[in-house]
Amino acid sequence: MSPETLLAMRDPLGAPIHPLAVQALLVITFVLHIFFITASVGSLLLGLYGLNKGEENWQRASKVAIRVATQTLGLGITMGIAPLLFVQVIYDPAWYVATTLMGLWTVLFIPLVALGYLFLYVLYLRGNVAGVGYVSLALLLLAGFVMHSLANAGLYPSRWVEWYAPGGVVHTTGERLLGYNLPRFAALLFGQAGLSLGVILLLFAWYFRRREDVPQAFLRFVEGLAQGALRVGAGIYGLLGLLWAFTQGAELGLGWPVAVVVLAVAALFYLHAGRARAENALATLGLYLGALLVVALLREGLRVSALGRYGYSAMQYPYVWDWGSILFFVATAVAAVPVIVYLAQVLYASGTRKEGADPSPRVEAFGDVGVKLLLGWFAFYFALGLYVVVRNL
Ligand code: HEM
Repeated sequence: MSPETLLAMRDPLGAPIHPLAVQALLVITFVLHIFFITASVGSLLLGLYGLNKGEENWQRASKVAIRVATQTLGLGITMGIAPLLFVQVIYDPAWYVATTLMGLWTVLFIPLVALGYLFLYVLYLRGNVAGVGYVSLALLLLAGFVMHSLANAGLYPSRWVEWYAPGGVVHTTGERLLGYNLPRFAALLFGQAGLSLGVILLLFAWYFRRREDVPQAFLRFVEGLAQGALRVGAGIYGLLGLLWAFTQGAELGLGWPVAVVVLAVAALFYLHAGRARAENALATLGLYLGALLVVALLREGLRVSALGRYGYSAMQYPYVWDWGSILFFVATAVAAVPVIVYLAQVLYASGTRKEGADPSPRVEAFGDVGVKLLLGWFAFYFALGLYVVVRNL
C-alpha cells in the first residue's frame, strides 16, 4: 500500500471541522465508551460468580451487579456510536478497509450486540438463569473482539493487500478476523473490567451510605469487593499490558511508552486499592477517568505512529468549516446537556431515600429549561429540513 493510495482514499469532501477537534472528540468519547463497556463486563462477571455463592451478601451483590451490568451496557453501546462517527471522519481509509476486509463480522456486529443485550436483560429479569448470562457474556466478548480487530487491522496498511488477496488470489468472504493482538484486547477489556468494576462498586457503596434501609454490613462487603476488583484488575492490566508493549507496542515503535503507561496505571490502582473507600469514591472515579484518558491517548499515539509511517496524518486531513453542520452539532449539544443533567439529578434524588425524594425547586427549574430547549431544538430541526427541501424544489 503506497502512501499516495492511502491519501487518495480520504473523503474528497474533507472533514466539516478542523481534524484536531475530531481527534479530541474521538479520544474523549472513547474514554466514556470503554468505561461503561468494561464496567458492564466486570459487573456481569461478578454477577455470574456471585450466583453460585450461597451467602446472603453474595446473593445480594450478584443481583446488584447484574442490574449494573444491564444499565452500563446500555450506556456503553450508546457511547460507542460517538467514537465510531469520529473515527470514520479522519481515519476513513483505515476504517473502511478494515470493515470491508472483515465484511461478515462487520455485518454480524450489531446482531451480536443486540442479542448479547437481550440475553443480559433476560438474566436481569429472571435472576437465576446463569446459562443465559454466560451466553450474553460470550456474545458481548465476541462483539468486543470484532471491534478490536476492526480498530487494529487499520494499523497495518502494509498487510492489507495480502489480506485482500492471499498469495495473489482474491478472498472476498470477509469471515477472517484480522490484525488482532490478544494481549491488547485482554488488557483493555479484562484488565479495565476489573478496574471499572472496582470504581462502580465504590460509587454504589458511596451512593447508598446514608440510606437506613441498606445494611451497613452489606456496604462494607461491597467496599471489600471493590478493593479486590481493583487489585485483580490492576494485576491483569499490568501483566497483559506488558505483553501488549512487547508485541504490538514494539512493532509500532512505541514499546516503551506502552510499557510505562500500563505499569504506571497498574501500580497506581494496585496501591490505591487498599485506601479506596466509599467516602472517597468520587476521587477514585476522577483518578480512574484520568488514567483512562492517558490510555486512550496512548492508543491514539499508536495509530498516529502506525499510519505516520505511510505519510498519513489526521492533522493534514483536508477540511472546510461547514458552519451548518457545526451549528447543528452545537445546538444538539446545548439542548441535550440540561435534559441529561436534569434526568441525572432526578435519578439521584429518587434513590437517596427509600421512599424517594422530590427534586429541589432548582432542579425542577432546570428541567423546565431543558424541556424548552428540546422543543426549540425540534422546531429548529424541522425548520432547517423544510428550508433545505423548499430551496431544492
Ligand atoms: C453498538 C455497539 C458498539 C459500538 C458502536 C462500538 C464502537 C467502538 C469504537 C468506535 C471503538 C474505537 C475504534 C477505534 O478507535 O478505531 C471501540 C473500541 C472498543 N470497543 Fe466498542 N463498540 C460497541 C460495543 C462494544 C462491546 C459490546 C464491547 C465489548 C463487550 C466493546 C469493546 C471495545 C473494545 C475492547 C475496544 C478497544 C479496542 C482496541 O483498542 O483494541 N465495544 N468500540
